Amino acid sequence: MKRIAGFIAAAFIAFLPCQSGQADDAASPLFGIKLFPGYRDWRLISVAHEEGSLNDLRAVLGNDIAIKAYRDGTRPFPDGTVIARLAWNYEPSEDNNKVFGRRQSYVAGAPKEGVQFMVKDSVKYASTSGWGFAQFNGGKPVEETVLKTCFACHEPAKETDFVFTHYAP
Ligand code: HEC
Repeated sequence: MKRIAGFIAAAFIAFLPCQSGQADDAASPLFGIKLFPGYRDWRLISVAHEEGSLNDLRAVLGNDIAIKAYRDGTRPFPDGTVIARLAWNYEPSEDNNKVFGRRQSYVAGAPKEGVQFMVKDSVKYASTSGWGFAQFNGGKPVEETVLKTCFACHEPAKETDFVFTHYAP
């Protein structure tokens, strides 16, 4: 019996680092959202450039449900909608500028500020008006304290179902 207990304990300890090593598959805290594997292939909703301390270029992508809702003008967004926000360093392109002969071209550099998601589930996320929020930095979910800031800042966009980005035709 003792030996079996020892074996179980050893197996359990051996299993622990293995579990924490699966961070890419870990659910984000608070809303329990996992990184969507195919998000980089989703279709484009629009792009934006943030100045100031953010100084980035960003793209907003949507899954099929999001794109359909945007194109049909359906608000509130239906359950199953997922909107992703990607961001990169806003960088002058030395290669392109050589062609122009002056500082002219700015491009997306290294990824930054992770990838953010808004997921619509009117039942599960009823307390945040139907939206769940997640952010993954280098594939790893950010901590709960960061996620607590999301909804509060999206609240001013109540008229457009808490979503800021408009569809760029
Ligand atoms: C300081 C205010 C603020 C905070 C905090 C914030 N957002 Fe946003 N978010 C915005 C604004 C403004 C936009 C629209 C344009 C842009 O990207 O700057 C936006 C855009 C988005 C978009 C694209 C859809 C849309 O609404 O335009 C997603 C997805 C998103 N945010 C997720 C999150 C997540 C997840 C968090 C928390 C980790 C978060 N946001 C925190 C202000 C905020």
